[in-house]
Amino acid sequence: MRATAGFVEVYGEKPAGVWAAPGRVNLIGEHTDYNDGFVLPFALPRRTVVAAAPDPGRRWTVWSEQAGERVSFGRADAAEPGRVTGWAAYVAGVVWALREADLDVPVARLAIASDVPLGAGLSSSAALEAAVQAALLDLGDLDVPVAQRPRLAQQAENGYVGAPTGIMDQSAVIRCRAGQALFLDCRSLAVEHVPFDLDAAGLAILVIDSRAPHRHVTGEYAARRAACEYAAAALGVPALRDVTIDDLDAALARLDDPVVRRRVRHVVTENHRVCQTVDLLRAGRLAEIGPLLTASHASMRDDFEITVPEVDTAVEAALAAGAYGARMTGGGFGGCVLALVDAAAADTVASAVARAYAERGFATPECFTALPGPGVERLG
Ligand code: GLA
Repeated sequence: MRATAGFVEVYGEKPAGVWAAPGRVNLIGEHTDYNDGFVLPFALPRRTVVAAAPDPGRRWTVWSEQAGERVSFGRADAAEPGRVTGWAAYVAGVVWALREADLDVPVARLAIASDVPLGAGLSSSAALEAAVQAALLDLGDLDVPVAQRPRLAQQAENGYVGAPTGIMDQSAVIRCRAGQALFLDCRSLAVEHVPFDLDAAGLAILVIDSRAPHRHVTGEYAARRAACEYAAAALGVPALRDVTIDDLDAALARLDDPVVRRRVRHVVTENHRVCQTVDLLRAGRLAEIGPLLTASHASMRDDFEITVPEVDTAVEAALAAGAYGARMTGGGFGGCVLALVDAAAADTVASAVARAYAERGFATPECFTALPGPGVERLG
């Protein structure tokens, strides 16, 4: 991690502190967050690190190792959504959201380095938001309870950057704990830290970056969200979370549009699968969640229609090579697949996926295994 060294090089002084926030994978519960439903993400060991110090001047300055550039912005830029663009918009957005909440955000200089892959659906943007937010709150001695921080980070993305995403990613990167998955009720924001000790069970989560080019992601995401909101209104419920698995058939019978019916079926069955997964994890029956993961993938492929050939291929190849279960994780249209495997079989499964990709002429996927790591923290 080069955030501290980068800070010294760029600003010619030592930082006042260093903060780190992880990327995340979602074990199960996709496109349920903005339906007030349930999700079960865990934090990755890969992180975005921010070294920072107060700045006596009037402009925030941010250097990013990945982008290889330094950007600065003033109060007026941070007051008007959209004025700062590109990667630095996430930083300006955090300043904007904190100031909208009437917090006296300190002007600061920051240096950022990260090994969270960009654009792979592993929440590199939430990691950046959470690390910058933690740095600014600490530098300003601003006391914001941890339960309120994800919402403020989400506002940076929704209100400043303009992406209509839910609360999952920011909750995951801020509230996750090592060795545990985060069972989040996206309506009440209540959390339960569910034991997820893969090591002790001799298991591993293999993360496969499909490297599929993202196609129309923002538009398709917004369209899925709109279909869900339309369905909830048609059914007379505040959100699809209020349709239970037992109500599903009756609800589907009241909807005319076959596409909307499929979207509803995904959300309702997915919420149910999250709860079933949590029950199994609470009972320490980790390998048994496999079929739920695979069913989640089928639901995303057939009902929510957010998968692409690369991720379907990765799931099929992982299952054929002996994975207990596999599914795409994240918003869809590319991104990563996760497979639950015996730890000893991780390399074999990764090779099987690479072979299946080569046969279809897809770019070689990148694979790594991941144990649940900690959420955002101060490193020094
Ligand atoms: C993206 C969004 C999240 C969530 C997922 C799908 O990651 O940022 O809020 O909606 O897609 O589960």
